[in-house]
Amino acid sequence: MTRELLKVLAFLEECLRFSPRSIVLTLISLVVVLALTWVLWIIFEGSASHLQTTFNPKSDNTESIHDLYMIVWVLSGFVMVGVLTLTMAFSLIFRERPGAPPAQQFHGNSRLEIIWTLIPIVIVVAIAIPSFQVILETEGDPPANSLDIVATGHQWWFEFEYPEENLITANELHIPVGRPVSIELRSDDVIHSFWIPQLVGKVDMVPGHNNRLWFTPYEPGEYYGQCAEYCGTSHANMRFRVIVETQEGYDAWVANQTNDALPAVGTEAQAGEKIATTLCAACHMIRGTSTNTAFAIKGPDLTHVGSRNHIAAVTMENNSENLAQWLKNPPGVKPGSRMPVLALSDEQISQLVAYLQELQ
Ligand code: CUA
Repeated sequence: MTRELLKVLAFLEECLRFSPRSIVLTLISLVVVLALTWVLWIIFEGSASHLQTTFNPKSDNTESIHDLYMIVWVLSGFVMVGVLTLTMAFSLIFRERPGAPPAQQFHGNSRLEIIWTLIPIVIVVAIAIPSFQVILETEGDPPANSLDIVATGHQWWFEFEYPEENLITANELHIPVGRPVSIELRSDDVIHSFWIPQLVGKVDMVPGHNNRLWFTPYEPGEYYGQCAEYCGTSHANMRFRVIVETQEGYDAWVANQTNDALPAVGTEAQAGEKIATTLCAACHMIRGTSTNTAFAIKGPDLTHVGSRNHIAAVTMENNSENLAQWLKNPPGVKPGSRMPVLALSDEQISQLVAYLQELQ
């Protein structure tokens, strides 16, 4: 093996002729390539602070994917630096010079060919082994103590059902920290993809074929989720938030969400309740009122819509101005929205806003 290596070195020496000039040019190439790699690293590191980043994992699932990614990143980094440095150095050393004879040509070298076939094989195997380990780890059955949730993709919003707790919500997933969450993924219409960059990798929501994923969140906080499969006009506006909270915080949230909606209190809200339980009831459920969901077109459950931080699949913060804007022209906020323009008067809109905000 040492002899083979010496032969390769001799070959390289002949290529480069190891003149002081070629050594300097090779070193300059290496410095330039390392500087470029460093800039890439800065960009890579910087993106860890973004909200939809996979570089700042906060669960067992994303951490193992991230660790695997780092192995790939480092190995391909070495390949990139080596190949780019030699490409640049050779282009400088062997560049055309007027009057100079062409560099010596080489044809066929079995040893070199075997070496540059073996190196990629070793790299691919080094990536494949941990990849299979991560696949087995993350795709296996969820732990027995998992919290079961059913997530359904709709054009263009997410519905979350908690069968054990007997509650349904939309676009806002609350989970306790440190407990595995097992989510069954369904679709009501077309193919969507469920993705929480910091908590779990993408898994498709396919109509008629339910998938499952599971993960254990490590840290309380608010995380961003996004549909990751083009599903129509408002695909980019199909977002959700994940609130990872302490067990006490989660229990309090569940206790509130399982309550029925309270009757409207304010005069304006009472008028709003009348509109909501007649007009809105065609598509929306408000538990504890006369609404029900036995209809073909179905919108989000509004029983506790006032308690959510956002509306319209997290395209807007939940406040009176945005609610009014949404009610006035839903497709104007979320193009293609299944909720039509209801031609409500300004008075009706402020009555509805008053009522919806009471639904805490
Ligand atoms: Cu749903 Cu893209």
